[in-house]
Amino acid sequence: MSPPTTATTERTDHDGGPSALFSITGVSVRFGGVRALSEVSLDVAPRQVLGVIGPNGAGKTTLFNVACGFVRPDSGRLLWKGEELTGLRPHRLASLGIGRTLQGLGLFDRMTVLENVMVGADRHARTGFASALFGLGRGARDDAALAARARRTLAGLGVERYADRLPGSLPYPVRKRVALARALVGEPELLLLDEPAGGLAGDEMAELGELIRGLTDRMAVMLVEHHMDLVMSVCDDITVLDFGRVIARGGPDEVRRDPAVVAAYLGEEVGGKAGEGAGEGAGREQRGTGE
Ligand SMILES: Nc1ncnc2c1ncn2[C@@H]1O[C@H](COP(=O)(O)OP(=O)(O)OP(=O)(O)O)[C@@H](O)[C@H]1O
Ligand SMILES: [Mg+2]
Repeated sequence: MSPPTTATTERTDHDGGPSALFSITGVSVRFGGVRALSEVSLDVAPRQVLGVIGPNGAGKTTLFNVACGFVRPDSGRLLWKGEELTGLRPHRLASLGIGRTLQGLGLFDRMTVLENVMVGADRHARTGFASALFGLGRGARDDAALAARARRTLAGLGVERYADRLPGSLPYPVRKRVALARALVGEPELLLLDEPAGGLAGDEMAELGELIRGLTDRMAVMLVEHHMDLVMSVCDDITVLDFGRVIARGGPDEVRRDPAVVAAYLGEEVGGKAGEGAGEGAGREQRGTGE
């Protein structure tokens, strides 16, 4: 465990210092000849909503995958509460207190909604349902407590009435909430969200925004998202990527006015009113970052 360094890439406050819950410092990722990320740093503070935005191909998904441990960076580090996280396997995240949802919902079609959510709770129920799934024996009492907590989580997201249904039979926005419930039931301190607004209509997106804001009394959120409206309305701080580099960071107003951000989004209205086309795929569709 090496101590956090103070001198990083562009700003010395992205150093995994004591105020940061989660830090990415100087991360670079290359896929063959494509530099997907170059020296990217960011900090997520406790109970903060940090947004990561950028045009198509900017490196958002790659950064999310680095944060989740799906992609190992060529250089740079990840820190959790000041401790080295680099190289951690994805399935260990939940036990540390990091929850995530993926762009594909990843729900199990043959399990009920309730069972899907219970799977997400293994952080707190090592001898219960989750272990039973893997043949490690089970405690009936654990299961009852876990089921109760899963129901509470579903209720908190307004979808408890679907608890006994199979996910495949439910509308997409409901399934998205189930996937979110699965990430929340383990009571993470940091929630990583990948494009949570994808496939949602305007009013569903507004509800999602409120829901995310409502989480900040107990956790931090890192939100990777294409939809500007959502990002601008829920994020305390925003990091803007373009061609794999951080081109701006700051609060919504600051970022919205930043000339580099305006240029990167070329004609897209940055943080415009709902439904005015700052959405998926607007602007540059095909971008290469090859060298
Ligand atoms: N597995 C991969 N192999 C090769 N190149 C990749 C791979 N994943 C991403 N890239 C490239 O890395 C760059 C960043 O891609 P990434 O998917 O992270 O961008 P993004 O910001 O998520 O884009 P979008 O808004 O379109 O989802 C792009 O040039 C992309 O083509
Ligand atoms: Mg992406």
